[in-house]
Amino acid sequence: MKDFIYHNPTKIFFGTDHAHRIAEEIKTYGDSVLMVYGGGSIKTNGVYDDIKGALLDGGLTVTELSGVQPNPRVASAREGIRLARDNQVDFVLAVGGGSVIDCAKLICAGFYYDGDPWNIVTKGHGAKVERALPLGSVLTLSATGSEMDSGSVITNPDTQEKLGWGTPLVQPKFSLLNPAYTNSVNPWHTAAGLADIMSHTMENYFTVYDDAFMQDSFAEGILKTCVHYGPVALQEPDNYEARSNIMWAGTWAINGLIDTGKPTAWSVHPMEHELSAFYDITHGVGLAILTPRWLRHVLDETTAPKIARMGRQVFGLVESDTMKAADAAIDALYHFFESIGIPMHLKDVGIDDTQLEAMAAACLVHTKGTIHGFVDMNEEDVLEIYKACL
Ligand code: NZQ
Ligand code: ZN
Repeated sequence: MKDFIYHNPTKIFFGTDHAHRIAEEIKTYGDSVLMVYGGGSIKTNGVYDDIKGALLDGGLTVTELSGVQPNPRVASAREGIRLARDNQVDFVLAVGGGSVIDCAKLICAGFYYDGDPWNIVTKGHGAKVERALPLGSVLTLSATGSEMDSGSVITNPDTQEKLGWGTPLVQPKFSLLNPAYTNSVNPWHTAAGLADIMSHTMENYFTVYDDAFMQDSFAEGILKTCVHYGPVALQEPDNYEARSNIMWAGTWAINGLIDTGKPTAWSVHPMEHELSAFYDITHGVGLAILTPRWLRHVLDETTAPKIARMGRQVFGLVESDTMKAADAAIDALYHFFESIGIPMHLKDVGIDDTQLEAMAAACLVHTKGTIHGFVDMNEEDVLEIYKACL
């Protein structure tokens, strides 16, 4: 195993009875909070009342930024920074899914930055984050892991770009994970969230480096949790056992543990971010469509043993021939995504062949010429994978 330092500073409040604790946590930073949320789901499922009530009961002053969209736009962050400055807030609280948390991260970093926050994302114009407002999150959708990581993904429709950035300075100080808050997530976003969790896990799992047996076994546990409880949550949206296991799996897929001690490089996310940037599709759906095609594209003598291992450990395959087991594992993954209601072709989500070349080119620009993943890939590889997804 390779040397590593592991430090994850986010305090987790997990369960149904912690909302009353957040005001106390925030008060260690000040009395004025910017509450950031999305298009309104928190107003219909009771989360808004719970959280705003807890903030007011705790004596905090609350300013609100609503309307953060899926694939969050830089414009929302600009608006949030303005509100935060005008109201001299001491703390930002994101209440929502990954889009809301990611937008809040950019607000926290942009608060102390003089230029346009898009520079922070692109690292343009010498932008450097040296200070950030403290952030907390109340997670309402199990998917991205943004609740316990330092990353953020922001879309700029003007440049047709969706880019990741991050700094430990914007990692949440605490996150409230109440699985019951995810009961109202519809089947589409529940399934997309599962695919996102599984993709984060597979991005970390699929390396040809096999010395991190513990981390890889943990990754298999996360994948098994999704395969086992995903269908349960879809059939019984209020099933606490399913929602809680999925929520905790989502957090651990990307909080730094399963990629310790091994070299990892992500392949599918850079390809998906172009689909979302060009067509504004749901992130997890794009990942589910791409992943089986990517695995088939990179399947060879070197990669087959790890793919076969996933098939055996996660899908219970008993095939002893490595290549056949790897092939069956890819089929099993495809059929799992299909079974949870994900449309498995790009044309099903409104993507035809007109922009494939442009997306492949943009992907390689954003990955600086090569995707260094399970297998290194160039522009032709990406284009072939996109074509296989049509
Ligand atoms: O806006 P509202 O009304 O809240 O509705 C949202 C939104 O329409 C809805 N929703 C959220 N919680 C709900 C709910 N509906 C009912 N009940 C609830 N409890 O779900 C819809 C999707 O929300 P969104 O936040 O966009 O989903 P997700 O959490 O999947 O976030 C996706 C974004 O995160 C980025 C993605 O690229 C995408 O932009 N990612 C962030 C990462 C990170 N920060 O580490 C890593 C990921 O790989 C990913 O790239
Ligand atoms: Zn993701």
